Amino acid sequence: MSLVIIRKTASAEAWLEALARLAPELRVHVWPDTGPVDEVEYVLSWAADPSVIASFPKLKGILSLGAGVDHVLTDATVPRHLPVVRMIDDTLTRRMVQYVVLAVLARHRRLDEMRANQAASLWKRPSLPDMQVGIMGLGEIGRACAEQLAALGYAVAGWSRHGKPVPGVEVHAGAEQLPAFLSRSDILVCLLPQTAATANVLDRGTLSMLPRGAYLINVARGDHVVDADLIALVAEEHLSGATLDAFRKEPLPPDHPFWTTPGITVTPHVAGWTEPATAARHVVQAIDAIDAGARPRGLVDRATGY
Ligand code: GLV
Repeated sequence: MSLVIIRKTASAEAWLEALARLAPELRVHVWPDTGPVDEVEYVLSWAADPSVIASFPKLKGILSLGAGVDHVLTDATVPRHLPVVRMIDDTLTRRMVQYVVLAVLARHRRLDEMRANQAASLWKRPSLPDMQVGIMGLGEIGRACAEQLAALGYAVAGWSRHGKPVPGVEVHAGAEQLPAFLSRSDILVCLLPQTAATANVLDRGTLSMLPRGAYLINVARGDHVVDADLIALVAEEHLSGATLDAFRKEPLPPDHPFWTTPGITVTPHVAGWTEPATAARHVVQAIDAIDAGARPRGLVDRATGY
């Protein structure tokens, strides 16, 4: 039995070390080295080229290197019967929470405005009204962000398809409760999975339901946001701005207006990343579960896409 790590942009050294420590019996290869293809039972993958995953005839499971699994589900060549497991890693979650808290605090406490005042040697205390935060997407990371922001004293609401309860968070469910959720969110954090149902969800219609002066933080996928609608609503001052970490095309093209729109902060998809030293445990547990015919943690429902 072997596992192939497929990732194009970073070295797999830390993964090899972490997996060797936890599962010394597991043979691990790094794409394009696969060893004998009919021994490959698992892939640990990020954005494999189409047909690569389908080229392993004895595959038993696909483990995503990231929390998102859209990179697997959009590959039409991947056999539909194979279990797909999303990454759940405490380090990844903690990093995402740190980024979201940073962006919420920077907006609420008006860091940009005070920096601009400093540049003009201007001693001016900004007005700091309370702000309510709304988290769209209450998966592993969304729940952790909601809990942390509630602990910081924010009135936090969450929105998800089914509205599973989260302690200390006012949860809204489904399309019906989306307007009420948006209309109370001064800061909206998007942590939705990318599925056919969530593409373009943040367009002029939904973003206009946010209160005047609201702020968007997108740490999910670029496809959730209709770029031109966001830029127009910032220009019209319906929205005060946005912090964006995910884009339709990455790297964000140099001529994209997000780079230069006042009020919009662009970061290069750095909100969170998986740490092999902690995430390897999830990988090994998922393999053990699938081998034992059990349900691995983080198993993706093919019908909903997350
Ligand atoms: C990153 O975007 C991830 O899905 O983990």
